[in-house]
Amino acid sequence: MNILLLGSGGREHAFSWKFSQSPLCEKLFIAPGNAGTATCGTNVALNIKDFDQIKSFVLENEINIVVVGPEEPLVLGIYDFFKNDDELKNVPVIGPSKEGAKLEGSKSFGKVFMAEQNIPTAGYEEFEAVTLERGLKYIATQTPPIVLKADGLAAGKGVLILPTIEEAQKEFKEMLSGKFGSAGAKVVIEEFLDGIEFSVFVLTDGKSYKVLPIAKDYKRIGENDEGLNTGGMGAVSPVPFVDKVLMDKVEERVIKPTIKGIQERGFDYKGFIFIGLIRVNNEPYVIEYNCRMGDPETEVVFPRLKNDLAQLMKAVGEGTLENETIEIDERAATTMFLVSGGYPEAYEKGKEMHGLNAIDDSILFHAGTREEDGKILTNGGRVMAITSYGDDFKAALEVSKKNAERIEFEGKYFRRDIGFDL
Ligand code: AMP
Ligand code: GLY
Repeated sequence: MNILLLGSGGREHAFSWKFSQSPLCEKLFIAPGNAGTATCGTNVALNIKDFDQIKSFVLENEINIVVVGPEEPLVLGIYDFFKNDDELKNVPVIGPSKEGAKLEGSKSFGKVFMAEQNIPTAGYEEFEAVTLERGLKYIATQTPPIVLKADGLAAGKGVLILPTIEEAQKEFKEMLSGKFGSAGAKVVIEEFLDGIEFSVFVLTDGKSYKVLPIAKDYKRIGENDEGLNTGGMGAVSPVPFVDKVLMDKVEERVIKPTIKGIQERGFDYKGFIFIGLIRVNNEPYVIEYNCRMGDPETEVVFPRLKNDLAQLMKAVGEGTLENETIEIDERAATTMFLVSGGYPEAYEKGKEMHGLNAIDDSILFHAGTREEDGKILTNGGRVMAITSYGDDFKAALEVSKKNAERIEFEGKYFRRDIGFDL
């Protein structure tokens, strides 16, 4: 198989790392990739939103399968572009069709979908500019904190949780007047759920499904889960509080009805479903759907997945996922992200990294890095995920932390308290 993988983060390095272990994978190309993916395959400078450019590359390089890391190409319809093109229609794209990707691309759509299938989630109302006055009155009747969600993709910044009615009303008005561009033309106002979050990953070929290892990520920049939201500062797998009783509820009340909903709506969905869940009084509720793997969750989920990932992708593309058996490493895996000073606000790039060669008991998944003259330089906010195994998550975290201390670059920051609430 010749595989083209789209994306450039730690998640994509984890995909590349798995693919490079597969005897089925002949050639691996990553567009655009990073300094880490370059050690597993060949980075190619393609614009992942330019489908015509991707088409030329796929035909010239005899690509057999395209695996999509981030949501944007999916929400823009890369699956449909391939399916409707005579020269590409036999090249499977791993990821849902544009319709299926609306589960992530539109919060409002996700809520309607969940209501149709009776999937447990927070109660909500939605408003647009024409119903602004009604929205302000609605907020006034709610008990804070108040959850506001821009309907469309807003690079992970479209959810606001406000402590007072006044602040919520102010933000609500700003959202509807274009704070998040067209993504905020519609705003979902949701009941606040108080609980602990976890992430479930499901792989489907549209007919059957397989559940991958469960994970939990840490989104805030500061220790004790304080400060601004980031793309994710660390993750652990498995999640100790997600026991069999809770997972059975997730499977019966969330996963099965989600697959049923996809089938009833007739979505072409061959890819990952990332279900963001929250446990409230030992019951699971859905916070959100994503149509892709999580980052940094992939950096702990794939290290625990014993299967050949290329074989799983092939089975998804061919619609034979039912024949596969997921095998999971019993060990725990944890990851800690090294980030650039200032992230998630302004930060500098181009800092030389030191100490990478001395690390042999963790897996280093590059995210924002690039290589220049044999040196590895920082090239983003989230720079590198340090993944380790252990008999339990605490033992694994000790190894990740030790190595996070050893790797050096100017402005380096990481959270030392990943897993603090478990
Ligand atoms: P989302 O982009 O929908 O995952 O939301 C981002 C984060 O906001 C989630 O990971 C939660 O921490 C929080 N959040 C979203 N919706 C709710 C809710 N209804 N109640 C409490 N927290 C929420
Ligand atoms: N870690 C959360 C995400 O990938 O959206």
